[in-house]
Amino acid sequence: MERALVVENFTAGYGKNAIIRNVHLTAREGTSTVIIGPNGAGKSTLLKAIFGLITVFSGTVTIDGQDVTRVTADRLVARGLAYVPQNGNVFPSLSIRENLEIGGYRQQHYPKDRMDQVFAIFPDLLKAARRSAGTLSGGQRQMLAMGRALMSDPSVLLLDEPTAGLSPSYTKIVWHHILAIAQTGKAVVVVEQNANTALSLADRAYLLVAGENREEGPAGELLEREDIGEMFLGR
Ligand SMILES: Nc1ncnc2c1ncn2[C@@H]1O[C@H](COP(=O)(O)OP(=O)(O)O)[C@@H](O)[C@H]1O
Ligand SMILES: [Mg+2]
Repeated sequence: MERALVVENFTAGYGKNAIIRNVHLTAREGTSTVIIGPNGAGKSTLLKAIFGLITVFSGTVTIDGQDVTRVTADRLVARGLAYVPQNGNVFPSLSIRENLEIGGYRQQHYPKDRMDQVFAIFPDLLKAARRSAGTLSGGQRQMLAMGRALMSDPSVLLLDEPTAGLSPSYTKIVWHHILAIAQTGKAVVVVEQNANTALSLADRAYLLVAGENREEGPAGELLEREDIGEMFLGR
């Protein structure tokens, strides 16, 4: 399996303030990688820095072997990266179809094929294609946000807390889709508060604490670690 996303010695933050320090992360194609850690650990900051939205002080990001450090967000989409922020990830006044069209607007050809692929992954969206996104439930909205990100056919998909606020059953549905997207060959990187569920389903995991790497390994192995369970998983 190729290493789709490689982050090394990564230090980034806001203004002059470094929040994450010397962080490393690798996500392979065809796999799901989950990032867990306490509130304020810097998980969202890491995704924002990878996606070129905040100041990178040092370190590197490569996608499919190409250096994209400090490439700005708008250009990163063309380099194979997609990012779904935790909030504000769909246009509520636009229809589902229009939201997807915007996600694919960089494609050279009319992205109908991609839209059909997205509808194949999320059949519920096809049924509701003409409805405005603002009428969707929280879970459906997350599906649309993921679908919109897939319209640019990224090799790496970054998701920030896609199950926040969802019921346990909808959380499982969203994860079912995350795993299905990974199966299509993409590297999916997911920041998760629902750490127990995520660790039981994802391939690999990183534990971030106070802006630094603390643990990493196969997700199932982190889940079984008693010390991690007591300190970070509420067991
Ligand atoms: N826009 C911002 N400007 C300044 N500091 C921020 C900003 N966003 C987050 N932070 C700070 O960065 C730290 C990490 O936040 P964040 O990455 O959101 O953590 P997590 O996603 O792990 O909960 C926190 O101390 C937070 O206060
Ligand atoms: Mg966060």
